[in-house]
Amino acid sequence: MNLRGRDFLTLKDYSEAEIIYLLDLAAKLKEKKKKGILVDYLRGKNVALIFEKTSTRTRCSFEVAAHDLGMGTTYLDPTGSQIGKKESIKDTARVLSGMFEGIEYRGFGQEIVEELARYSDVPVWNGLTNEYHPTQMLADMLTIREHFGKLKGLKLVYMGDARYNMGNSYMVACSKLGLHFTACAPEKYFPNAKLVGECENFCETSGGTITLTENVDVAVRDADVICTDVWVSMGEPDEVWAERINDLSPYKVTSEVMENAGSKAVFLHCLPSFHDLGTKIGKEIHEKYGLDDMEVTDEVFESDRSLVFQEAENRMHTIKAVMAATLGADRIVMSETMGKGRG
Ligand code: CP
Ligand code: NVA
Repeated sequence: MNLRGRDFLTLKDYSEAEIIYLLDLAAKLKEKKKKGILVDYLRGKNVALIFEKTSTRTRCSFEVAAHDLGMGTTYLDPTGSQIGKKESIKDTARVLSGMFEGIEYRGFGQEIVEELARYSDVPVWNGLTNEYHPTQMLADMLTIREHFGKLKGLKLVYMGDARYNMGNSYMVACSKLGLHFTACAPEKYFPNAKLVGECENFCETSGGTITLTENVDVAVRDADVICTDVWVSMGEPDEVWAERINDLSPYKVTSEVMENAGSKAVFLHCLPSFHDLGTKIGKEIHEKYGLDDMEVTDEVFESDRSLVFQEAENRMHTIKAVMAATLGADRIVMSETMGKGRG
């Protein structure tokens, strides 16, 4: 396997074997981290982290992972650079390529990260766009594999706005890796037909399936994994809240949903999540619409079936794998026997 120099923009660009390789590498890096074995094989290299939208997990994961690999980081926040305002993406790509060995980008349209990658000489990693969140998928798949010991053949149900980054990305990841994907939402929130078609093609190789349904009872039956995401994503206007609450409330992940899924089902959420009144937006929505929670109840979020914090930690290990593989430090990590590290 050689992923050196590759961009990481969407899992559509990666084969099943390449994705599994990244998960295996992440598992190895996680084990080393737990044992305190250093993996700082990329000393002297630097990465740029562009965030045009806010972040906790993705930013921290890139920073910690880069530092663990021995690299320096430069964080460009949503307001503090010239990007987009005084300097084009094309020029930014060529400037940053001269200073950094890799570039992470979180922002709006997928076409922006694609353009950044086109004009960069170094790997570009997608840290979330409106359409895709591929590093999140690696973390989710690692978490699912850690829990069930496998991926192929499992049933994953995504409830809520299935036409945005998380819904799209789950459909791509499942169809690449042979999971049975169900999007459960009102029809207008289904992923677009073009992407569904592309993913159906991936399923022919992987053995996965795709189901789109409005029926919660049918969707969740025998599910292994139930996932959801916020009803209004970063960058969307406040005006859409009322419509989303109305449309998506029947698709909230409740204890009844988990019970109907069956005793083996686990819950995933990329986070951040509105499961209580502990946030400013949560409180505002409570005052305006009377809701105590939104896409998931606090009961499910805090239950034993919820793997959300394991999932959040896995962001760091999987992002480390992406950087290590695309910057060429993976072979040494994979070939080292555990306990013989330099740390
Ligand atoms: N899941 C995720 O991407 O979280 P952040 O927005 O905090 O990075
Ligand atoms: N759909 C969410 C995911 C956050 C990690 C958003 O784009 O805001």
